Parts: sequence; C-alpha cells; structure tokens
Amino acid sequence: MFARSGHYSVDLGAFRASVVDRAQKLRVGLPFAAFSSGVRITDKEIDRIVRRLARHGLLEYRIALPGSDRDQVVIEPQVGDYWPATPPLGNADVLVLSRFAYMRRRGSELVLESPRAGALFRICEPKIAATIATLSTPCQLRQLRRDDGFPGVELLALLVDCQILFRIRAPGSNRLQPAEDDRSLLLWDFHDLLFHARSTEGRHANPLGGLYLHSGMMPPPPAVRPRWPGKKIDLRKSDLRKSDLRKPDLHKSDLHKSSGVHSRAISPLASLLRERRSTRSFDFQKPITLAELSRFLDGTARVLPGAKNGDRLGGAGQPEAYAARPYPSAGASYELELYLAVDRCEGLARGFYHYDAGGHALMPIGTRMHEFEALLMGAQIAMGAPAVPQVLMTIAARFGRVSWKYSSLAYALILKDVGVLTQTFYLVATEMGLGGCAIGSTNIDLFAKMTGIDLHVEGAVGQFALGRGTTPATAD
Ligand SMILES: Cc1cc2nc3c(=O)[nH]c(=O)nc-3n(C[C@H](O)[C@H](O)[C@H](O)COP(=O)(O)O)c2cc1C
Repeated sequence: MFARSGHYSVDLGAFRASVVDRAQKLRVGLPFAAFSSGVRITDKEIDRIVRRLARHGLLEYRIALPGSDRDQVVIEPQVGDYWPATPPLGNADVLVLSRFAYMRRRGSELVLESPRAGALFRICEPKIAATIATLSTPCQLRQLRRDDGFPGVELLALLVDCQILFRIRAPGSNRLQPAEDDRSLLLWDFHDLLFHARSTEGRHANPLGGLYLHSGMMPPPPAVRPRWPGKKIDLRKSDLRKSDLRKPDLHKSDLHKSSGVHSRAISPLASLLRERRSTRSFDFQKPITLAELSRFLDGTARVLPGAKNGDRLGGAGQPEAYAARPYPSAGASYELELYLAVDRCEGLARGFYHYDAGGHALMPIGTRMHEFEALLMGAQIAMGAPAVPQVLMTIAARFGRVSWKYSSLAYALILKDVGVLTQTFYLVATEMGLGGCAIGSTNIDLFAKMTGIDLHVEGAVGQFALGRGTTPATAD
C-alpha cells in the first residue's frame, strides 16, 4: 500500500486485503476508538498504518459531535512527531490562553495556532472560537462548561497538550502568564518567537523554499533597480587610479581596466570580495584538515585575546560582560554559537561538536546517528549538492543574550548578526583557499533534538557549509 501526496509517495507496507479495504476509510475519517485500543490483528495493522501516515505528515484529525458529519475542529499537525494527546483535566483546573497563541483567517478558514504548538487547529464552528477567546482571562473548567460554545474537555486537553492553553494555579492571578510553564519564555516577544518558528524548517507545514509561487502572477522585480530621474554623477570618472593608492594596499593582480579609460586600483579586501563565490561541492579525496579548520575558527569566531570577560556598564545599571570576536555584533551581545557536524576532516573524527570560542576548542556532543545524518543531508539538499559538506556549521543563538536587553527587535538583530558572521566566513574561507556556502533554511526541530536544548533557549538560526572545494561554483 502506498500513500501519494503530490509528487511524493510513501510505501506503507504490504497488508491483507481486509486491512487495505478498511484503510480506505481514512480518506474520510476513521474513529480512533475503532482501532487504537483494539486487540484484533486488523486493528493493530490499521494503527501501524495510521502512525506511519502521521510520521510523514499525511494525516489530519477531525473532531465532530457524535453522530454528526460536520467538523467542529480539524487538527493539522505541524511537526513530524505530532500525535494527539489529551492530558487529564479536572473541573477545578484553571485554563488560560498562551500569550503566543493567535487566531487568524487563512483563505476562508479560521485557524488557531502558536509557534509553540506541534499542530494548528482549524476552527469550523464560530461558537468554539468565541469560547476560546474568553480564555484570554483565566477560567475554571467548571465554569467554562456552562458556556454555550463549550467545545468539550477533549479539545481543551488537546489545546493544553499543544501549549495553546495552559493551566495556572491561582485563579485571577496573571503573575505566571508571561513565563507560562517555562521561565526562558519571559525573554521572548510574541512576534519574535513566531518568526523563529515559521521562517525556517522544522516547526510548521507551510510551503517552504524556492517554490516560485508567484511566478504565474507577475514577472520577477528587475535585478537592478531602475534609475531615479535627475542628473547623474558618474562615479566611474572618480574611481581611484593605481597611483592614488599607497603601495602596500595594492595586489599586483588587482589592476583592472575600467571602460578602457584607465587602470583601476583594487585593494586586497576588494579583491577578496570579488573572488568570493559559493562552493557547494567539495573535494572527496582531499578534505579540509584540522589545522585549517582551527585557523578558520580562529580567524572568524574566536573570542579575541584580552577581550574575554571584558566588562562595561550597561544601560540596566549593572555590568554587562561581553567577549569581542572578529565580527561585529548587535549590542556586543555575541550570542551566536557554532555547532559543527563534521563529515570529513583530516585529523578530526566524524561527529558533532560545539566550538568553545573562549577556549578555542571543540567539544564533542553525542548524537543519534540518524539525526546527525539528517542534518548533513538537509544541507546537501538545500545546496542541490552532489554530496554532504565536509563540515556543516550550524549557527545557533543564545536568544536571551539579545532579548534581555532589546525589545521588539531582538530576533531581527540576531538574523542580522548571522548575516555579518556569514560574510566573515565567506571571506576567511576565500582567503584560505577553502570553499563555503551559506544555507538559508535550517531544521530547528532537528537541531533542538540533537542538542537537547529547547529551540527557544539556544536555537539554530543559520548554517554554513565548509570544505575544500572542487569545481567552480554555480549560481543558486
Ligand atoms: C542568506 C543566504 C542564504 C543562502 N542559502 C543558500 C541555500 O540554501 N542553498 C544554496 O545553494 N545557496 C545558498 N546561498 C548562496 C547563494 O545562492 C549565493 O550567494 C548566490 O547565488 C550568489 O552566488 P555567489 O555566492 O557564488 O556569489 C545563500 C546565500 C545567502 C547570503
């Protein structure tokens, strides 16, 4: 039996005809109770099929009133391992909406979601939406039951499981609300956590990547912006000549003909910038060496000598330690951490490491092999490369370093820092004769599983593939 979705199909395995027949009912819906606690072989096999479909994100879960065909709510999983769970709720429990939960129109549907949730809830019954909205203030389950749109305890339990609702201890108190059930959430703005969860892979089921969804509707905006009207000042006439630059700044090979008029002088840095290209395929025979990797990390990300534990007085009136590195960082936060998935590096064992930027050392981290390989494979796919990179660097952020200080713009600053670091990687790799490529999307869920750290505490925000390049780069 196969399940097909668009161009992609999943082999579900071979089953007896009776099981295959019954599985067809999944097209419209098969009640959980009809198979989940069954002891018959058919029930067990249906359960296996359902779980396999769920793992591939091919199931949604309908909630309807008994005897009715009309959906009240449909649950759409957003992560691969979502499985509906209903923690027990008692009448005395006090429920409130998470401050990260929101309802919005999607097409002609109303959806309830949260960047913390493993699933989103399509609300088909407006009365249910109204009841959920009343939970912006804490309410006891006993009292909620009296509401006209009471959706049933099961749905509330499903929402608690997805962290869209949470239980608080003291009714009327909102003391716990900003932190909810996790103190590290205190440091997050609503839109920042949403952006973190929705702008890369791993925590949602939306279309993602270079899908050209708008190509049929309009042509792409021009590669170079059309010129503003007015009298132009032609800078080509003001280009520095070779004689204008001090000798040490010049590379012998950096004299270019400009419009056939005169020799243009290019500094070593400008030359490096021009030489820089993205490299997506790496030399299988001659991998990067540990000495090169060490020099690369030293040149790009190591805490600068003398800067360690540097103190300065911060705006909060208390000293804020910072540790300067070769690249600039918003507010000198230096929140970015490097995690290396090493596939091939001469002198270094294949594995997953954290770069200790203060001690200039690599610290091995034990991971499950299938996760390690999925991380490398994700990079290969993102680059459309023939093989996995020799070294895949995941840039992670200790979000609190930035959001402790900055409101509303913390996450944006972090992504800007990623851009700054990425260019530093590109330039040092070019200068060392190595190849590298930025990677625009990272599976934040997979990375969280590999490190065992919650994705809102220290999460992946960027990636860079590194190694000794083979062929000249091609544009993406
Ligand atoms: C933020 C960012 C994300 C990128 N993501 C990818 C990616 O996911 N896959 C890829 O093959 N190249 C990626 N690239 C590389 C670009 O495709 C490349 O820089 C562009 O095509 C220009 O080519 P060049 O770098 O060789 O000059 C990324 C570059 C940047 C700056």
